[in-house]
Amino acid sequence: MPRAVDDAVNDFPRSQIASPPRPLSIASHLFFIQTDTVSLENDMNPFLPFALPDIGEEEIAEVVDSLRSGWLTTGQKTQRFEQEFAEFLGGNVQALAVNSATAGLHLVLEAIGIGPGDEVITTPYTFTATAGVIRHLGADPVLVDIDPRTFNLDPEKIERAITPRTKAIMPVHFAGLACEMDPIIALARKHGLKVIEDAAHALPTTYNGRLIGTLDSDATVFSFYATKTITTGEGGMIVTRNEEIAQRCRVMRLHGISRDAFDRYTSTKPAWQYEVIAPGFKYNLTDLASSIGLQQLKKAWRFQGRRAEMAARYDAELVDLPVILPPQPQDGDLHSWHLYVIRLDHDVQLSRAEFIQQMAERGIGCSVHFIPLHLHPYWRDTYNLQPHHFPVSWLAYERAVSLPLYTKMTDADQSRVINAVKEILGRSAVATENAAELEFAASSFSA
Ligand SMILES: Cc1ncc(COP(=O)(O)O)c(C=O)c1O
Repeated sequence: MPRAVDDAVNDFPRSQIASPPRPLSIASHLFFIQTDTVSLENDMNPFLPFALPDIGEEEIAEVVDSLRSGWLTTGQKTQRFEQEFAEFLGGNVQALAVNSATAGLHLVLEAIGIGPGDEVITTPYTFTATAGVIRHLGADPVLVDIDPRTFNLDPEKIERAITPRTKAIMPVHFAGLACEMDPIIALARKHGLKVIEDAAHALPTTYNGRLIGTLDSDATVFSFYATKTITTGEGGMIVTRNEEIAQRCRVMRLHGISRDAFDRYTSTKPAWQYEVIAPGFKYNLTDLASSIGLQQLKKAWRFQGRRAEMAARYDAELVDLPVILPPQPQDGDLHSWHLYVIRLDHDVQLSRAEFIQQMAERGIGCSVHFIPLHLHPYWRDTYNLQPHHFPVSWLAYERAVSLPLYTKMTDADQSRVINAVKEILGRSAVATENAAELEFAASSFSA
């Protein structure tokens, strides 16, 4: 049976992998590498992947229904998905389905007029897509370091980064914990900037009791990538109350055509009659993907409840270990718990890579979120960035490990993870390789 395993396993010597892994997609942030057999697993101890989607018979039936209907591309199911998504969030938002969060962020930035010479403030502690879309439009991402507790953009550091070229701020709700949005939005209003939320991790997440997607930013974009809290395989949703943004994104997601395919084939106007009003993109979500989304959305609250329960169990079980546990949401708020990220204490005499390796040896997939943007060759070389330019992100990354947390995991699966972490951290004795670097980064914290 094919199994999904994490990149950590991919780092294993080839001899331990019975057949070469087949990537399911070329995205570099992949957690899913499909293998036919992995010699790390056996009947007693099957490999526990870092992430797995939770697809039930309902999703399968809905996809089959679409297949039988003869309508495969964007149509009624996508319209329903958009409508139900908007209703799920409330707050009179419009929802526009797209084929990835990357596409959604690109469309929104285009819609607000980001172009060459503009700057958009965002975080280094994110997936490259957040900043990549800024470059697609010829603009420059300006990175601002994170809060060491939450891993989210530090509002106090944003104002110092604003220049006459700044047009927008793009906060990322890392792991599914809401950013401090009130000060970010206040700052944006004060300086006439737009706020676009990268909510790839944040369904459902609340900030001051309001669901992410319904705050007073200009637009919010969710991801339905295979590992996210709800999935369509690949997919995303733009949410906004701004009619102009919605209108522009609607046209630009489908070639810049004034009518979408469903309208052309169902309305009484002739199907051949349409106008191209801009050189648009091909970012629409298919009805096949929306079929999965419709059923996943119905489970979103249950999924969140289970994730929160599992996060609470990790918190309780790991509290006495030499790790920093992930931050909790403010009282009364919800964390989506897309990711559960621990940080190894600096006195743990084991490198992060060794820890992940030892987890993999016990048949458990872990991951790292994120390698900060400024450590990647493209961002480093384009903007001449050094690790210590964003010391909090660098330091957080050096000791961060994402443990498996998903609704397909059983209590017994989670016990295995907990026991493995306890066993490894209870007997670590190897000196940290990069202790000097870490000390340097720590000393920069006050900068
Ligand atoms: C913070 C963040 N933003 C954007 C994206 C891009 O999402 P998608 O894969 O749907 O394009 C991801 C995906 O992992 C992400 O983690």
